[in-house]
Amino acid sequence: MSTERILIIGSGGQLGTELCESLRGIYGDANVIASDVRPLSGSVAESGPSEVLDILDKNRFTEILDQYKPTQIYHLAALLSATAEKNPKLGWTLNMDGLFHVLDAAKERNLAKVYWPSSIAVFGPNTPRVQTPQHCVMDPNTIYGITKLAGERYCEYYFEKHGVDVRSIRYPGLIGYKSAPGGGTTDYAVDIYHQALEHGKYECFLSSETELPMLYMPDALRATISLMEAPAEQIQIRSSYNVAGMSFTPEQIAASIRHDIPGFEISYAPDYRQHIADSWPKSIDDGKARMDWGWKPEYDLQGMTDDMLMHLREMKSQKV
Ligand code: SER
Repeated sequence: MSTERILIIGSGGQLGTELCESLRGIYGDANVIASDVRPLSGSVAESGPSEVLDILDKNRFTEILDQYKPTQIYHLAALLSATAEKNPKLGWTLNMDGLFHVLDAAKERNLAKVYWPSSIAVFGPNTPRVQTPQHCVMDPNTIYGITKLAGERYCEYYFEKHGVDVRSIRYPGLIGYKSAPGGGTTDYAVDIYHQALEHGKYECFLSSETELPMLYMPDALRATISLMEAPAEQIQIRSSYNVAGMSFTPEQIAASIRHDIPGFEISYAPDYRQHIADSWPKSIDDGKARMDWGWKPEYDLQGMTDDMLMHLREMKSQKV
């Protein structure tokens, strides 16, 4: 029997849905408490405990901590890049105050570990864009990126000053078939597969040559869980680790889809998200993650495309 009890905050999101399933597989359904600002439904709600929690509501958070006495928290609730640009004040408040509440709880209650995701959005227009190093100029110009960079500094500070064992990854765009992304600049790389199967064509909100780092969900889950399970002394970075999977442009992902759906067509209508993408890296140097806790991705672009299309077809055929 696992002695760990894990609270996930933001279990209804793209990453939360899938992490919940993986963590329940490892630690047991009853030991992973899913929570989200909206009532959860589907497998996350059915396979184990679930609660409604707005992380800005400190009293409700305290109630849940008292009730379940978690040993670990995965704090995933945030506004992503595109949504936060539309509502900067809420982006700042949710992304920062939410993290403060979690780090304070970890300190006061001596939690064993905290996981908090950062992002490639911490980088900015003066960051080297190719093989972006772990340590370099960081001048994010989106609210999301600013909160993630400030959050990284806070995490490191709480580790140094208060001994909170907090761990983090700077995720690139995450791509998966089980759950929908919510308000990111990299979301096109999920939607494109759905549209390819439904309509055989896709209009992309980024230009054809916009190269961004991406990670397939099975790799993202493996990275997260390996980081969290690594012995504390191996974790040398307490802000957040660069982690890379693959990098591609909309044109290249379209070409990988054409291997499978030869008539697939893509057109381009860049919007405000182009400006966000233009400030982010094209590729990431993840040497520290590889060295400290043995990170290595398994999927490349074509491997991911083949797997995505196979699973999405399977899901579609089960629906009819
Ligand atoms: N996928 C995220 C976004 O586009 C990046 O962390 O906002």
